[in-house]
Amino acid sequence: MNSFPRLAVLGSGKGSNFVALQEAIAAGRLEARIVLVVSDLPDATILARARTMNLPVATLPPSPFRTKLSPEGELALVELLRKNEVEWVVLAGYMRVVKEPLLSAFPNRVINIHPSLLPAFKGLRAWEQAIAAGVKETGCTVHYVNQDIDAGEIIAQRRVPVLPDDTPETLHARIQIAEHELFPEALAKAFRAAS
Ligand code: GRF
Repeated sequence: MNSFPRLAVLGSGKGSNFVALQEAIAAGRLEARIVLVVSDLPDATILARARTMNLPVATLPPSPFRTKLSPEGELALVELLRKNEVEWVVLAGYMRVVKEPLLSAFPNRVINIHPSLLPAFKGLRAWEQAIAAGVKETGCTVHYVNQDIDAGEIIAQRRVPVLPDDTPETLHARIQIAEHELFPEALAKAFRAAS
């Protein structure tokens, strides 16, 4: 076993960013180990993809709230991460707000990817917000997570054009290609900064 940073990847969706990270690791472009893949949704594709790659997976117990875990759920998540000796928490399409006690358990070690050039277009479906605003350029951002939504310190960004005939789907697909390149690079940058 190597001594590379131990990551947990949290996601609620299809997991294309998780796959991009694991591919970057396998190709030697990112020195890290994904030691756990966690989802709040038992049927999320990210878990199926992780199982295919023989990576350990975990599902969070159901929460009474749609956008966050219960305080007990958040505590159980911290315990799960500690039990697996996780050092960095990587949010890759995780659709719940991360709160205490997780943030103070992993200070400056919770990282998220967001599909816009923050601080523009925080929140959900940022690519639709970009089309509605009529901007010619958007992109993606990797940032540290703090108590405010999509507002932590920015690690890296990548720009993507918005084309006149873009639909939400074509624009999100273009942003995701940029995300898959940016995420491993930005994580490597964060690991260097912490060492
Ligand atoms: C990405 O666009 C990411 O920026 C946002 O959620 C989406 C997750 O996609 N936070 P995937 O599950 O990694 O394919």
